[in-house]
This record gives sequence, structure tokens and C-alpha cells, in this order.
Amino acid sequence: MSKTIIAANRLPVKIVNDTGEFKLHTSEGGLATGLGSIYKSKDNVWIGWPGLEVEGEEQQQKITEELREQNLLPVFLDKDEITRFYEGFSNEVLWPVFHYYASTYAHYEQQNWECYKEVNQKFCDQILKIAQPGDMVWVHDYQLLLLPKMIRDAQRDISIGFFLHIPFPSHEMFRLIPWRKQLLEGMLGADLIGFHTFDDVRHFLSSVTRVLALQTSANVITNNRRVVVAESFPMGIDDKKYASLATDAAVKKEVAAICKTFNRQKLILSIDRLDYSKGILQRLRAFEQLLISHPELLTHITFYMIVVPSRDQVAQYKELRDQIDKKVGNINARYRTLEWSPIQYFYRSFPIETLSALYSAADVCLVTPMRDGMNLVSKEYVASRVNNDGVLILSEMAGASKELIDAIIVNPNNEYEVSEAMFVALNMPLAEQKRRMTLMRNNVGKFNIGHWVKIFKERLDEVKQMQRSLLTR
Ligand code: G6P
Repeated sequence: MSKTIIAANRLPVKIVNDTGEFKLHTSEGGLATGLGSIYKSKDNVWIGWPGLEVEGEEQQQKITEELREQNLLPVFLDKDEITRFYEGFSNEVLWPVFHYYASTYAHYEQQNWECYKEVNQKFCDQILKIAQPGDMVWVHDYQLLLLPKMIRDAQRDISIGFFLHIPFPSHEMFRLIPWRKQLLEGMLGADLIGFHTFDDVRHFLSSVTRVLALQTSANVITNNRRVVVAESFPMGIDDKKYASLATDAAVKKEVAAICKTFNRQKLILSIDRLDYSKGILQRLRAFEQLLISHPELLTHITFYMIVVPSRDQVAQYKELRDQIDKKVGNINARYRTLEWSPIQYFYRSFPIETLSALYSAADVCLVTPMRDGMNLVSKEYVASRVNNDGVLILSEMAGASKELIDAIIVNPNNEYEVSEAMFVALNMPLAEQKRRMTLMRNNVGKFNIGHWVKIFKERLDEVKQMQRSLLTR
């Protein structure tokens, strides 16, 4: 009986060290929810890092056994690997370059590259212990770009899908990476390579032809007499989960409490992981511009800004956090009154119920990344608007802007445009809100996470069949 093996840098659970005792926390992340129906069934398995350093074989063994009951297989990373593979290479080379921050943030260090290779090999070794011919391996994201080829070299016929959750940059960016050739070859070990948008596919194909001089015909690449297909599969969310949370009694109570606190003020909401690619500072400047251009809004609006801590050991993230603290402090100090603050800023994560309450309470959701593979927050907001009201302002640099075309689409670099979009959103007539939101809700409902998983797997099967029929010709 064939099985599916999912490989992602992180497991869909997080282990936290609770004063010496390790505890498992399930993740509410989009990928974890989407792939839940797969890895939890039969002999399927999800391989990944549990998210923190676990010292000592005995402790690791104990955790492995606990995880095995949930079809999870851990890859433990030691301190050096966390520093070099996760922080140094994944998040100080691939993340900045793929988000067009090469010149500002990328650090190319040979030792980190060596470690990136070693950790990808570590994942491969785990997979090879359990993979059988006929199984499917689905590899996820930029931390594991070399893994498809490593598996392919050991098992020629196995079915391998790869999905990149972040943008694939233009060739002019990608070619800057000293190890560009090996990275592309690593990805091409897969049979099917998925991206969020058609632009990502285009950029990838352009790098494949220029860096590797391989032949492509439309989206089919011939590599070593094996065909590989690159295609876009825009990722969706579990829309029903957000719609049902929005009508849940406890969530409704939280919504009522939020609305009471803010009385008749209008709420603008943003939720992001701490990251320079999310355009948080630029958004704050746009918000300040709104207060300058429209002083009549003072005391009538509140910007609720949630920033979820992330990668706080990487220097640029620490710096960004300080800059955000400073900017929020400046704006609040300048415009606040005794009873009112323009910005309510939170630097922490919240349970999904609270996020749902905020999505329901917010008149406007502001999603303005400088660059984003997809951005699921925009879709979560839409799915939560069960009354079809509310306005989404969405950056044209987010993959989601290709689907949610009824949002107010903005260029996040244009702070005046973003501030005016906020003004338009705050004043949008209800009928217009409903017209736009209904269209967006149809899209988010139709192309949800279940649909994404289904079409990716079906396409991978088709590609395998195509390869077989080419071989018998
Ligand atoms: C993005 C990436 C994921 C990553 C997540 C959180 O969404 O595409 O691969 O897991 O950010 O980042 P972290 O570094 O905490 O895993």
C-alpha cells in the first residue's frame, strides 16, 4: 500500500520547553490544516523540525515516540544547524533574495551553504528509511530546495512534488546567489514543481533556461531525459473554519467586547509575522499620512496592529522590531488624546478565536506586504466576513492580489496611495462593500485549501503518467 510523505522544515506541531518539560502544541497554520487530512491517515507521515533544540538522545527518543502516535517524524537540529541552516542560509540568503532584498539583507557564507546541504541530506536520510517505490513525497518550501534531487538520486521512480510557498524571484535576482545552479538542480529532482502564481512559474522557467541552459516547452522542462512540470497552484485556506468561528458564540462575545471598547470608532486591522517583507514600517507611515491628510478622522478610527514574533535571533528582525516600536511610539505620542490612541500595537501571537473576533470587528483589513508569496491573512479576513461587509486593502505584491481582484489594490511603496485607500475604505458605501466582498468570498470558498491539495496531487499523478507514456514511446 503506497503512502504519502510530507516534508517541511517545520512539523505541524510545536514543541515548547515548559520549565524543563517538553510539551506539544498543535499548529493552526494554513499548511498544517490543509495537509491534516493527508498525514493523519493510514501510514502517511509528516517529517520536519519540532521548532527548538532538544538535547540528549533519551529526550529525543521520548519526543520521537510521542510524535509517532500522530504520524509525525522529527528531524532534530542542533544549535549550529539552527544558526547556519535555518537562520544563516534559509533566512539570510534565500528569504531576502526571493523577496527582492538581496542587496540589503543577503549574506553569502560558504559554511552556511555547507550546513544547508547537510540538513537537506538529514531530511533525505529520514525519508529514505521509510520510502518505498510507489510512495509520494511532497516537499515544501525554500528550506528544502535540495531535497527533491537527493531523494531522486536514491529512488529514481518515486513520485516527488515540490511546492514553494514564497515568491520565486526574477532571474536577475536569483542569479546573484553563488549556489544558484545547485539550488535549481535540487528543485528539478521533483516531478511537479508548484508555485502560488503564474509570475513565479515564469521567473522559475527563465532561471532554468538561463542558469542551467535546459530546454523548456511551455511549462515542461526536460532535465536529464526526464520531464518536469512547473505550474501555479494558488494556495487557499479552510474557509469554512473561519466562517464558523465568526458565528461561534464565544467569538461573538469577544467581538461585542471589542466593539464596546472602541465605541463607534472604525477599526483598521493588520496581522503579520514580524518581517521586513511585510511592509510594516511603510504601512505605519501611510497610516500617519492618513492622520495628516484627514485630521477629521482623529479620535474616530483605531489601527489595531498585531505583529507575531518571528526569527528573533536574526539581526535584521531584531532591528525591525525596534524600528516598529519607535514608529508606533512616535505616532501615538504625537496624536493621542487622554481617551484615545491611534494605534493599538501588539507584539505577540493570539489564539485563533481572538483573531477571528478581530477579523469580524474590523471595518478595514490592511494587507500591504512589499512582497509575499500568497498572504493567507487576506483570505482569512474575507472568509470571516459572513455578512459580506468590510473592505480589504491589498498589496499588488502579494500573490493573493491575483485572485482577490475586488480588494482595493495598492502599491505598498506608494504611501500616499495606501493612505488614500484607507480613506476610501473607511467611507465605502455598504452596497459597494457587499458587492466586492461577495465576489471575494466566492473565490475564497471555491479555491479553498481542500481544492489546492486535491489539484496538486491529481496533477502529480498526471505528470507521472505522462513520464511513463513518454518512456514507452
Ligand atoms: C513563511 C514560510 C514558511 C515558514 C513561515 C514561518 O510562511 O513560507 O516556510 O515556516 O514563514 O517562518 P519560520 O521561520 O518561523 O518557520
